[in-house]
Amino acid sequence: MILITGATGQLGGRVIETLLNYNIPAGQIAALVRDEAKAESLKVKGINLRIGNYDDVDALNIAMQGIEKVLLVSALEEGKIVQQHKNVIDAAKRAGVQCLAYTSHCLQNRETLHNPIMLTHYETEDYLMASGLKYIIFRNILYMDSMALYMLGRDYLDNGINLPAGDGRVAYALRCDQAEAIGHVLAAGDCSNRIYRFTGSRAYSFTDVAQSLSELTGKTVSYRPVSAETYRTNALNGGMPQKVVDLILPFMADIAGGQGSTVTNDMEEALGRPPIDLKAGLKQLLNL
Ligand SMILES: NC(=O)c1ccc[n+]([C@@H]2O[C@H](COP(=O)([O-])OP(=O)(O)OC[C@H]3O[C@@H](n4cnc5c(N)ncnc54)[C@H](OP(=O)(O)O)[C@@H]3O)[C@@H](O)[C@H]2O)c1
Repeated sequence: MILITGATGQLGGRVIETLLNYNIPAGQIAALVRDEAKAESLKVKGINLRIGNYDDVDALNIAMQGIEKVLLVSALEEGKIVQQHKNVIDAAKRAGVQCLAYTSHCLQNRETLHNPIMLTHYETEDYLMASGLKYIIFRNILYMDSMALYMLGRDYLDNGINLPAGDGRVAYALRCDQAEAIGHVLAAGDCSNRIYRFTGSRAYSFTDVAQSLSELTGKTVSYRPVSAETYRTNALNGGMPQKVVDLILPFMADIAGGQGSTVTNDMEEALGRPPIDLKAGLKQLLNL
């Protein structure tokens, strides 16, 4: 039995779909969910529901019963993330789980990171590797979805893309492609302490993003790199909450610094096809 956490989320849900498409019987799949009402579609398919929060050690101990393999989908609650991941890893170990897979983030260099959230991935990887459990680490690249839906700004068609990302490149891939690749690896059954770096086949700058948007919309979209201070002032004047600005700036600093620019074939190999490229991905995400 394989337990997928974050199963009512977008990545975890798509991993489960992939396992089912791979002819893994629903009865061999369990889903950790914190809100049973959100999991009705999983229940209907015959997926085994286990109710629990990463904070709740007792619930995690029960959820791990009879489980051989776990996919731990990373959490996102500031200040709690590493402890929550440790809770899941510890519960898996106590229950005799054979293999724990973790969704990490694909970055170039932990020593030069600006974004503290990203450090939680390295801390979790370190803890998992030292746990004695067999593991798989999926270092996922920045979702193309996150870039297209949250970073471009609402008025990019009229005012262009104005970001403090310099000419930094990111090998974006669609979240659904990354989920499918994870599902394939899990279904294949190998658990040999491997780190996968799931990236697109090329790394793209925001100039490339603007070029693709121009081609897709027929309008000239330009990219202007701006300083962090200019971005902050414009964002606050445009009504973006201070907290959101403070979250975005280190993301941008890491993009500018090339943290997302690694390109590998790992995802293509796992998918058995090239990942969706930038232009096709933007077309799909933005309904262009
Ligand atoms: N590579 C990237 O660009 C990128 C971008 C964004 C996020 N991420 C990371 O990738 C993860 C998966 O992405 P996603 O798009 O699938 O996010 P998502 O749709 O928000 O799903 C996250 C899932 O984790 C569950 N979860 C969160 N905290 C939990 C807790 N304390 N206990 C139990 N379950 C918990 C959520 O439960 P509910 O359904 O009950 O909310 C949800 O099912 C994110 O959580 C984040 O760590 C990566």
